[in-house]
Amino acid sequence: MEKICVIGLGYIGLPTSGFFASKGFHVHGTDVNESVINTLSRGDIHIEEPGLVDVIKSAVETKQLTVSTSPVEADVFIIAVPTPIFENENANLDYVRKATENIIPYLNKGNVVIVESTIPPRTIDDVVVPIIQEGGFKPEDNEVYVAHCPERVIPGRIMIELVENNRMVGGYTNEAAVKAAEVYRQVVDGEVFETTAITAEMSKLMENTFRDVNIALANELAKISEKLGVNAHEVIKLANMHPRVNIHQPGPGVGGHCIAVDPYFIVEKAKGLSPLIQTSRKINKSMPQFVIDQVDKLTHNIQNPTIAVLGLTYKGNVDDMRESPAVTIVNQLISNGYNVKCHDPHVKNDATELSLFNLEHALADSDIALVLSDHNVFKELSSSIFVSNMKTPVVLDTKNCIPESEELTLYQIGNLSGLKSIEG
Ligand SMILES: NC(=O)c1ccc[n+]([C@@H]2O[C@H](COP(=O)([O-])OP(=O)(O)OC[C@H]3O[C@@H](n4cnc5c(N)ncnc54)[C@H](O)[C@@H]3O)[C@@H](O)[C@H]2O)c1
Repeated sequence: MEKICVIGLGYIGLPTSGFFASKGFHVHGTDVNESVINTLSRGDIHIEEPGLVDVIKSAVETKQLTVSTSPVEADVFIIAVPTPIFENENANLDYVRKATENIIPYLNKGNVVIVESTIPPRTIDDVVVPIIQEGGFKPEDNEVYVAHCPERVIPGRIMIELVENNRMVGGYTNEAAVKAAEVYRQVVDGEVFETTAITAEMSKLMENTFRDVNIALANELAKISEKLGVNAHEVIKLANMHPRVNIHQPGPGVGGHCIAVDPYFIVEKAKGLSPLIQTSRKINKSMPQFVIDQVDKLTHNIQNPTIAVLGLTYKGNVDDMRESPAVTIVNQLISNGYNVKCHDPHVKNDATELSLFNLEHALADSDIALVLSDHNVFKELSSSIFVSNMKTPVVLDTKNCIPESEELTLYQIGNLSGLKSIEG
């Protein structure tokens, strides 16, 4: 079986390494972060993902997976490094550039280089291939097979979706698409589709842009519903009974490393042609302020209000706070002078500069509980925990996940009708 070298051992690269190792490949994982390598060398993991720890522990023990801070020679290189945006919202491809440069000394003719990181259109052609050419190889003549195989897994189900999802493999050449597709066909149950690099780049970006645009529509509906006194959740439920309608859910904004970032990769390449995508981004980015406006209204009559925040991650049941609207909201509330006490059972103390409290302490003497992530544990909370700890049992639930109860005053983003200031 081929030897695989994975570059970048984060939310994507680590599960991918464990997955290929569990299928019998010899995998060498590399990461520039030494503490990641130290943790993995012990058979531990540095991220939270169901089913991952056992896979890594066993792969490290059997030496099917080895790790270090630098690459090794291999048949296949998989690049899974971050692709964030700069402050000006342009793609930061520094990590992709560096990772590609780093593998050049270990590259041999006949090797396959696959970029799994999400990248703007033409990145394989304009960024990755030129570095490999400068390294002395001719990808255009298939001396090295270069391809983009974007990752579509969803955190929380990564180990399942790595097996089940369909994959698209975009080759710099037709032969590169075939060679890279062969790698995945050996291990996945889903279908593997071959295409060109730019088509794969664009398809991945459009998947997340589709979701961003549709979430923006739901968020716009939530704002309109607040003005008109309509329950947006009821509207969505009824509208979605139409066989061809699927309105998404409103919330506190869009976070994470993907949906909140990927649309900008298209905008950067086609600014004048993407007004819908740009407006959707603006709407979703406006949601934290919309949430803060509701907090302001609720606490208008209270001196030094205390807010208990439940959930800091960008979505439920994960530990990931990247681009999280919850963090934006908390920081803004703090700088607006609120006392804020945060609770998130998925976030470790050393992962955030915010002080974390256990649930009872966060709720103690608070004026509002502000729910910002839909962790399963929150869906099961009984009203008594709010009633017995809070000053006033008022819950502003931005994720529509707290069970209704006669004992609670419950407002949801999407159902804010009757919202009135708490008496001081
Ligand atoms: N997380 C997701 O849910 C998800 C889903 C689909 C696609 N993606 C895409 O996958 C890519 C990786 O995302 P992630 O969430 O795994 O990121 P991550 O930040 O969790 O992990 C990336 C790792 O790469 C390491 N790294 C950076 N530069 C390196 C280099 N030159 N050599 C070796 N290691 C290096 C970092 O130290 C880090 O540990 C991104 O493009 C992202 O958009 C992510």
